[in-house]
Amino acid sequence: MKLLRVLVLVASGLPALAHAAPPPADMEAERVKAEAFTASMEAKGQVNRETLPGARLYRERCAMCHEGQVPKAPHKTFVSLMPTDAIYHALADGIMQPQSAGLSLTQKQQVAEYLTGEQLDLARQIPMPPQCASEGHATGPRLMGWGFGPRNEHYIPPAVAGLLAADVPRLQLKWALAYPGGAFRARSRPTFDQGVLYVGSQDGTVYALDAKTGCRHWTFRASAEVRTPVLVDVVGPTARRVALFGDLNGRAYAVDATNGTLLWKLKADDHPTATITGAPVLHDGVLYVPVSSLEEASADPSYECCTFRGSVVAVAADSGKVLWKSYTILKPARQRGVTTAGIKRFAPAGSPIWNSPTLDVKRGLMYVGTGNAYSAPADISSDAVVAFDLQTGKRQWVHQVVANDAWNVGCMIGNANCPTPEGPDLDIGAGTMLLAGGGAKGGDLVAVGMKDGTVVAIDPDHPQRTVWKRKLGRGSIQGGVQFGMAYDGRRLYVPISDMANSRDGKHYPGDIQPGLNALVPSTGEILWRNITDDACHGRDLCDRGILASIAAIDDVVFGGHMDGRLRAYAAATGQVLWETDTTTEIVGVNGVKGHGGSMGGGGPVVYDGMVYVNSGYGLYFHLPGNVLLAYSVDGR
Ligand code: HEC
Repeated sequence: MKLLRVLVLVASGLPALAHAAPPPADMEAERVKAEAFTASMEAKGQVNRETLPGARLYRERCAMCHEGQVPKAPHKTFVSLMPTDAIYHALADGIMQPQSAGLSLTQKQQVAEYLTGEQLDLARQIPMPPQCASEGHATGPRLMGWGFGPRNEHYIPPAVAGLLAADVPRLQLKWALAYPGGAFRARSRPTFDQGVLYVGSQDGTVYALDAKTGCRHWTFRASAEVRTPVLVDVVGPTARRVALFGDLNGRAYAVDATNGTLLWKLKADDHPTATITGAPVLHDGVLYVPVSSLEEASADPSYECCTFRGSVVAVAADSGKVLWKSYTILKPARQRGVTTAGIKRFAPAGSPIWNSPTLDVKRGLMYVGTGNAYSAPADISSDAVVAFDLQTGKRQWVHQVVANDAWNVGCMIGNANCPTPEGPDLDIGAGTMLLAGGGAKGGDLVAVGMKDGTVVAIDPDHPQRTVWKRKLGRGSIQGGVQFGMAYDGRRLYVPISDMANSRDGKHYPGDIQPGLNALVPSTGEILWRNITDDACHGRDLCDRGILASIAAIDDVVFGGHMDGRLRAYAAATGQVLWETDTTTEIVGVNGVKGHGGSMGGGGPVVYDGMVYVNSGYGLYFHLPGNVLLAYSVDGR
């Protein structure tokens, strides 16, 4: 997945690559990487890290474990994305104390500052919204998860949404939260239970706030960014209300949903490059955690590529006990000769799961969409819809959408680890969806959107059968379909990102078609299309289309665009009913100033008469921002 690739280049920087003079064919890729690196440095106000005093300490004391050698040790790339104070605390009084023994506190600070390129400020208090006077509401609807339910439909029924189409034009900002500490992305989709809003954030703070006013019930600090939604449910014999989420280091957490106290945490996978990007799913007391990885970005020609396998881990939500773990690729990688550089090659590897699993409770199955293979030959489970048995985890079937897609970053910089044949590097980024009753004779379909702009519908009872296929966008490394479509039982709504210039150095033929589409679920026929007008007027990092996941209520579809505008569309016609600019500066309930930007990851959510959206996606050439915005009818 290339999104992650850009991230890696940004995070690990150019120094490791800079000494090899790239051949002319790679000049464009080099330019793109240099731009990404510079942009991120500027965004974070960083200096050249290799000149910092912590650089040598890192090489001598940390590098031997944190560059892929040791199971469980998060790769340097991930450690660099942690907040500076969280790294410092891991060394000073946390789990890395033994490994950093002998370093003074100042040296620990220097290592932490080297890794993030930012100064440590231990005196910094995270500004908090005011504490709520009462304990929250005893009742109120629930709205959970990435796709708002096991089928991942991204549809919110009227009893939960509490918002009529006729009132949508009167929506106004009611309250906002501005994520503090220089946050530049906000991508955890808010969830709701009994009038409480739960959301994760870039500095690892998880918030439980009153949905109507933004006052605080509690917060919890994870050691790395929480980009998954927070899942809340009553579980176990003691009927405890728990809140569950994952962080960037591949760790799943359970906290007490009434006060934020940690109950358990676990590492979902031992591979050093493992991470959790897709939202876990909670069903019947079991948490299903999808695992993806950054191994394809291990571009070093001396790296023995590749051994990671995508997986799902089923965990008992009350105890943290692992019930089963099942891989997309059935067997571990084995050696397949050596590269032209004389380094061992391993295959099959890859088929990571970037997205949130879909549960088909009726058939007892779980569906996931996978990314490309990392080494050749590509396993059949790459770029595929894979079905697992919900009870046992057994891999039941695989529907491969694109065959032979073996790719890694070695291809981008022309080193010996690039697989032969080199694949197109497609991925299923957005989650699969179960369109219940969406098929021709009221049967079910499984729909999946690809980054190349194609939507595919397959028959879950005859999984090798493609029922229809429709190309709606030009596609690029950032979609096409990137984060999520919606289905309201009548139409399938497909957001298309189609960045004008995705800056990955590749040429994508055809015209861009950024915007929103509605399809007939049973046939894929187009009902309407709304290609977004240009509201960017040449503004840098501004783009028209929809990257983030969308949300449907009866008669209205909400889409958060890359131009910073949140738009509400009439479900029947595609006409824009309401729009607002999320990039306007605001002061949050926590007293922090902020503004939105492009929307990416989890998009808008409608709950109990209000509309909520996280805005800001200062990654991969999008507008940065740091706010959670809450709109109500007339702002009341
Ligand atoms: C001997 C191997 C080894 C060395 C040396 C080492 N680490 Fe680690 N590190 C690990 C392992 C293993 C983990 C994962 C532990 C776990 O999650 O239980 C880890 C985890 C971490 C984490 C994540 C903590 C968290 O809260 O998730 C940070 C940060 C970290 N190391 C920083 C460092 C730094 C900085 C150095 C150098 C001063 C260092 N480590 C040296 C093996 C090592």
